[in-house]
Amino acid sequence: MHDPHTADMKRRDFLVSSGAAVAASMVPLNASAQPAATDAGPAQHQVSFTINRRQEALVLDTRTTLLDALREQLQLTGTKKGCDHGQCGACTVLVNGRRINSCLSLAVMHEGDSITTIEGLGTPQSLHPLQAAFIKHDGYQCGYCTPGQICSAVAVLAEVKAGVPSHVTADLDAPVRLTAGELRERMSGNICRCGAYSNIVDAIAEVAGSGA
Ligand code: FES
Repeated sequence: MHDPHTADMKRRDFLVSSGAAVAASMVPLNASAQPAATDAGPAQHQVSFTINRRQEALVLDTRTTLLDALREQLQLTGTKKGCDHGQCGACTVLVNGRRINSCLSLAVMHEGDSITTIEGLGTPQSLHPLQAAFIKHDGYQCGYCTPGQICSAVAVLAEVKAGVPSHVTADLDAPVRLTAGELRERMSGNICRCGAYSNIVDAIAEVAGSGA
């Protein structure tokens, strides 16, 4: 005869033992491969890279993201932290000419790299064409996402020039045409909570048209 109490106990025993098995399976096979936690604190590592054409050498906690290294160690606060999870694009910078979300990248992974942030694109006296176009077309409201938008746009123009197709490129054999659809797709990783998207597209399209 079915005893609900016994059945419940067995179910609970099973859950406890299978939970222990799952926990055991999550223990690394080679625990010594993990960074050693020492009495001296978290592991530190030296990294050297070029930021905005300037050579920098930092000693960092190996867990430091590139975004935090830029903002906290180098005081390059133009690069913004929005979500810190790779979802908003506010932290976009250029690494060796390609755009990345700096919140998803560890600083120590960038030994020898050439990194460009919004501070390296232009100056108030000599704006990058995209910076000038964002101002002209009102491509922002609060401005928090703007550094990431502009860094991303710089990379988009380089990608198009190099013939890199996007998800919406119709003809892979023809040169990429920077339609509004192409632009919106390529800029879709950069979120603007103010909703300045149409002005952002206008700004990028103008620069693309000028061949800059
Ligand atoms: Fe990096 Fe949002 S802060 S994607």
